[in-house]
Amino acid sequence: MRIDIITCLPRLLESPFSDSILKRAQLKGLVTVAIHDLREYSQNKHRTTDDYAFGGGAGMVMMIEPIDLCISKLKSERNYDEVMYMSPDGELFSQSLSNQLSLKQNLIILCGHYKGVDERVREHLVTREISIGNYVLSGGELAAAVVSDSIIRLIPGVLSDETSALTDSFQDGMIAPPVYTRPAEYKGWKVPEVLLSGHEAKIEQWREEKALERTKERRPDLAKE
Ligand code: ADE
Repeated sequence: MRIDIITCLPRLLESPFSDSILKRAQLKGLVTVAIHDLREYSQNKHRTTDDYAFGGGAGMVMMIEPIDLCISKLKSERNYDEVMYMSPDGELFSQSLSNQLSLKQNLIILCGHYKGVDERVREHLVTREISIGNYVLSGGELAAAVVSDSIIRLIPGVLSDETSALTDSFQDGMIAPPVYTRPAEYKGWKVPEVLLSGHEAKIEQWREEKALERTKERRPDLAKE
């Protein structure tokens, strides 16, 4: 898989992809993440990528031309499955959407800033708009990192334990059960006996019960009967 992220603040995206699972996924050749600085596509001498809004009002608007030039260049190099724009008014991101996107080959993510992008970008260049939640961030970069992280960890081979993405919360519409590690007792707080029993079937049954109990208690909207 390849993810191309278009941003006017590339430094904001450096660290999420230079550590841990996302770094290893790239080193293993399972994903390529390319960050594109929108300023390099600016056609004016100050390398600006935003301008005042027609009709007035506070806040700058990201111009269509640098965005179009960047997307066109990428599209001349390969075919893309989606051009996704990160925006608080987009479709709410979910595990199910992440699963779908993890099956794609090439994705473009465009990060918005200021008052957003010229509406013609959304009308003509973007195929999908995604929000990571009902709150407003300063820009789409953190949202792009969240969406990319969620997608990349689902690519086969990215996680060392192949089953661990499958046991994530939400993956089966349930919250994950509690986990414990050594010591078995700390300040008198004990680990549930069954987990120390070595009895695999009983442990599995306990995990399923706890997952269901937690889901009903914390996320009744997810709980299935
Ligand atoms: N940009 C600003 N806020 C955002 C959000 N909640 N989701 C995605 N992109 C955003």
